[in-house]
Amino acid sequence: MEKYKLTINGKHIEAVRGMTVLEAANSAGIYIPTLCADPDLEPYGSCRLCVVEIEGMRGLPTSCTTPVTEGMVVHTETPAVTAVRKMAVELLIADHPADCLTCTKNQNCELQKVANYLGIKELRFPKTTRKYEIDTSNPFFDIDRNKCILCARCVRTCNEITCVGAIDLAFRGNDTKVATFGDKTLFDSICQSCGECMVRCPTGALALKEVNNYTHEVKTTCPYCGVGCSMILGVRNNKVVSVKGNREGASNQGKLCVKGRFGIPEFVNSPERLTTPLIKKNGKLEKASWDEAIRLIASKFSNYQPEEVAVVSSSRATNEANYITQKFARSALGTNNVDNCARV
Ligand code: FES
Repeated sequence: MEKYKLTINGKHIEAVRGMTVLEAANSAGIYIPTLCADPDLEPYGSCRLCVVEIEGMRGLPTSCTTPVTEGMVVHTETPAVTAVRKMAVELLIADHPADCLTCTKNQNCELQKVANYLGIKELRFPKTTRKYEIDTSNPFFDIDRNKCILCARCVRTCNEITCVGAIDLAFRGNDTKVATFGDKTLFDSICQSCGECMVRCPTGALALKEVNNYTHEVKTTCPYCGVGCSMILGVRNNKVVSVKGNREGASNQGKLCVKGRFGIPEFVNSPERLTTPLIKKNGKLEKASWDEAIRLIASKFSNYQPEEVAVVSSSRATNEANYITQKFARSALGTNNVDNCARV
């Protein structure tokens, strides 16, 4: 790996060839405000928040799109840089509602964060009066274009990560907005409701219909299929209230599909969920202990020859559970009659 030596704000750092100036700064613990950059997406360079001064380079290049070179000397906090950043944020705020206290993204909003960082206390520009109807057609999240800053993180996520392409930036100039094909509602589009766009939205433009704050988190594996996506559940009063992908998950690296992201709390918390084995006694299902249930099943299995039984495992179980199931079939029951419904 070819390494370059460069200086950022007087600090000597090393960066790998191919890194952007933003990545090099972040890796050295130097904060550069951003809005359109996302580590999982290709550089885009639209918000102009990450501009820096680079000695010998004209203008103020965006650090998220500028690759590092040997000997580069970068300044991230000059008066010219701050003026451009402030202007960019002030223009965004002028086009943004001021209902932060009732916004679901309050305190998690990246626009708020950069405005605070830049010390913006008053607005130099009049607020715009444009008003979009909120698209509430999706069962899990809403799209409120009034809060959209047109960073296109949602659009790029849908193209680059989910590879669905349900949304794009449509129309021109002041009318530019995130839209589905034919400007239909999200529900009537090809959106698969995975929510990856919502996770990456820096403001409250794409937000959950209902946000429940949790008191602690539990790491687990999604039970919906064999991919084994790692997820982090938010728990409050012993109930699952939120789900997020775990970036350290080897198979999903933080991403989730619609089932994992939105299909967990309702069934885990459902009062109708079976939480103990049931054994039919005198025609009625009665609660039983696991020992009792396993003993009963074992005694029934023992009445059959290996060629008389077959085991069909579940595509909704984890890889590990499916592995154990076939092992049980082969080693304990002595049969090779094993199948899994995933292969359909
Ligand atoms: Fe670089 Fe938006 S983060 S231009």
